Amino acid sequence: MVSRAPIYLNHSAFDFSNTFSRKMATLSFFSALLLTVVVSVPINVSGSAYCGPVEATDKDLVQFPLNLEFLEAEFFLNSALGHGLDAIEPDFAAGGPPPVGAQKANLDPVTRKIIEEFGYQEVGHLRAIITAVGGIPRPLYDLSPEAFAQLFDKAVGYKLNPPFNPYSNTVNYLLASYTIPYVGLVGYVGTIPYLTTFSSRALVASLLGVESGQDAVIRTLLYEKANEKVMPYNITVAEFTNAISFLRNKLAMCGVRDEGLIVPLRLGAENRTESNILSADSNSLSYARTQPQILRIIYGTGSEYRPGGFLPRGGNGKIARSFLGKV
Ligand SMILES: *[C@@H]1O[C@H](CO)[C@@H](O)[C@H](O)[C@H]1NC(C)=O
Ligand SMILES: *[C@@H]1O[C@H](CO)[C@@H](O)[C@H](O)[C@H]1NC(C)=O
Ligand SMILES: *[C@@H]1O[C@H](CO)[C@@H](O)[C@H](O)[C@H]1NC(C)=O
Repeated sequence: MVSRAPIYLNHSAFDFSNTFSRKMATLSFFSALLLTVVVSVPINVSGSAYCGPVEATDKDLVQFPLNLEFLEAEFFLNSALGHGLDAIEPDFAAGGPPPVGAQKANLDPVTRKIIEEFGYQEVGHLRAIITAVGGIPRPLYDLSPEAFAQLFDKAVGYKLNPPFNPYSNTVNYLLASYTIPYVGLVGYVGTIPYLTTFSSRALVASLLGVESGQDAVIRTLLYEKANEKVMPYNITVAEFTNAISFLRNKLAMCGVRDEGLIVPLRLGAENRTESNILSADSNSLSYARTQPQILRIIYGTGSEYRPGGFLPRGGNGKIARSFLGKV
């Protein structure tokens, strides 16, 4: 990694575009000014990535997860129903393009029901965030089988043959789903400590609750098949989850914050279990990630400056955009 000059994001202290920031500016003008004038993102000069927090306004911090909520909404709705957000809440996209490559998945009836519910839950999450702090244009998503195949190839370290297809059956779909809500979950955990207002903390805590529930359901369904081979590969379900978690840790470049379904005892609950249905630290507390770490993962590039993967043109909102065009 090349070390880079510090990046400065200019967050306007006088953004009166919605009630939230108006209220914030009126109620605590001086603290708002201090918090929002200049946001600096120092770079990890030891030659790798910066792992610390990004300073930003509550509005920007709460809008950032829209990048993941749109992704989940489109992935779950299209897979369960064969149509996406525009058929349900067409205004939410705020003019952003529909995703490319999303498909109805070949799911068993129980899984299809679960994924349909998750899809509608994401619609609610989008509504809650947009109502609280305003929306952002939906970024362009690549949900094509090829985008997932690339991710899975990267995870296992060679080209899977045939290419991994997330939509072809239930277990493949659950593995593909393993890649998404967890990133949202750790992002919410990482965001809450940096929020300044009661209302934004309350909102993000409630988003976190459901996001972690989704992750738990997906992981439990996969755990039931942990030792089964994923056909036609000579790789078990657990091995795939470990490979994806390992890849995410590698891309984010900030240590272990992501664990697969079967782990060495030292990563299990109280160092006593190899089962690892929930990914958590040595006290079984959820891991946290920052926005740059999340971008490194969902871009699949290991760099918040280089879009790719599910977001070929990058994320939207002030935080994600602030990194683009800087390299
Ligand atoms: C710098 O990068 C290393 C390795 O990626 C990481 O462990 C460390 O926490 C980072 N330091 C900061 C200040 O982010
Ligand atoms: C499948 O993988 C196991 C180890 O994970 C290995 O022992 C076995 O030889 C492999 N089988 C084939 C057909 O590649
Ligand atoms: C589990 O092991 C880690 C080191 O791998 C240690 O830091 C931690 O205290 C251990 N936890 C318990 C409950 O023994």
